[in-house]
Amino acid sequence: MIGICSDHAGYDYKQKLIAYLEAKNYKVKDFGTYSAERMDYPDVAHPLAEAVEKGDVEKGIAMCGTGNGMAITLNKHQGIRAGLAWDVEIGKLVKRHNNANVLVMPARFISFEKVCNITDAWLGTEFEGGRHQDRIEKIPVR
Ligand code: RB5
Repeated sequence: MIGICSDHAGYDYKQKLIAYLEAKNYKVKDFGTYSAERMDYPDVAHPLAEAVEKGDVEKGIAMCGTGNGMAITLNKHQGIRAGLAWDVEIGKLVKRHNNANVLVMPARFISFEKVCNITDAWLGTEFEGGRHQDRIEKIPVR
């Protein structure tokens, strides 16, 4: 199960990405926003982060205009590693090296085709572990 959220800037892409993923037989839980009306990204980022931390969804995808508001908010949660990706290679590396459990994309700066390609790359890549595991274990603030 993949959780997904966006603010108004990512709403159109979120709707299209849900359809794209469901057509590939992924189960998707939509955390909003539910219209193109202006809203505040933390209002959907926090519930998605909590759902990933609790295991209600396995992983998440978040979009806002630049991706930064979502990434900054999501990464306040100790159990979240939210990685911003704007091209396919970064989409792979954010999984391979950082084991990102939330993929964040900048909806106002990339095409929808790129959103799909980055998502496919992230979903299709395995975490490498090893030295990268050692590094992600040093991330949490104790
Ligand atoms: C909304 O205008 C915009 O600020 C938001 O989508 C995002 O880019 C914030 O980081």
